[in-house]
Amino acid sequence: MRKELLKNKIYNECCLTTMSKMQDEFIDLTVTSPPYDDLRTYNNSIIDIKSEFNGYSFPFEKIANELFRITKQGGVLVWVVADATIGANETGNSFRQALYFKECGFNLFDTMIYAKPPRGACGNNKTYWQTFEYMFVLSKGSPKKINLITDRENKESRKGDNGTKRLQNGELLQVSRGGYGEYGRRTNIWEYNIGKGHSTSDSIAFEHPAIFPEKLARDHIFSWSNPGDIVYDPMMGSGTVAKMCLLEDRNYIGSEINKDYCKIAEARLSTVRSTIKILEDVRTAV
Ligand SMILES: C[S@@+](CC[C@H](N)C(=O)[O-])C[C@H]1O[C@@H](n2cnc3c(N)ncnc32)[C@H](O)[C@@H]1O
Repeated sequence: MRKELLKNKIYNECCLTTMSKMQDEFIDLTVTSPPYDDLRTYNNSIIDIKSEFNGYSFPFEKIANELFRITKQGGVLVWVVADATIGANETGNSFRQALYFKECGFNLFDTMIYAKPPRGACGNNKTYWQTFEYMFVLSKGSPKKINLITDRENKESRKGDNGTKRLQNGELLQVSRGGYGEYGRRTNIWEYNIGKGHSTSDSIAFEHPAIFPEKLARDHIFSWSNPGDIVYDPMMGSGTVAKMCLLEDRNYIGSEINKDYCKIAEARLSTVRSTIKILEDVRTAV
């Protein structure tokens, strides 16, 4: 019998422990970014995992199989990842991971790009500036919930119209052309400004070395889930996904192995909860 798991809670433990408490097909959407090839040092967490899993820097394959098991049919996993370059050679682990997810049973629904405008010193001086990461959108079967964001301005909007087309035999065929509005669906390259005041306005979040932007988390949550759904982040870091779930009316579950990062996440969530409460009080008073 699996242990009871609470929603809207971040578990300070390895994600494999949290997932072992989840029944099959429990999660609607997972949005996460793993430690990238040890590109960052996450206090002692990497070292802890190394000793726990005897030589692996990150138990990726076990985590991938568990993510497949706990994802609902039609559910989605968004895996945001980049590669390290070691001695003029990119590791390519991002691709290896995407292909392994396919072996687990996921569809590679879309390979999306998270682009960042270049700032500061990016990478080494021998390659072009590194300005993007992959966002692998993986699904268990076809995604059941798709809410595409339509904020890309079309060059011009056009009303639909009717006309005729002459066929080879000379007859005229009545045809109608669909129109399109001022805005269309986005491309699959999403660009976000990053850093203080851009990724988030919570200064405490920057005590974590590798946060992703709140808007990135929010845009995936909106795109691949509906209000009331359960969204999981197995590597919650500073709590970005949980914060966006609170604001977007989704339930979250998180795992984070490092207790200092859990404290950062809880501090951010408590500020959001207070703001939501104040707004609700104002609404009831009006
Ligand atoms: C790239 S960061 C995630 C940052 C997060 N998206 C944010 O916006 O704050 C990866 C996180 O995974 C955590 N981590 C690494 N291995 C883990 C494991 N096995 N279980 C849970 N958390 C883990 C690290 O401590 C680190 O905080």
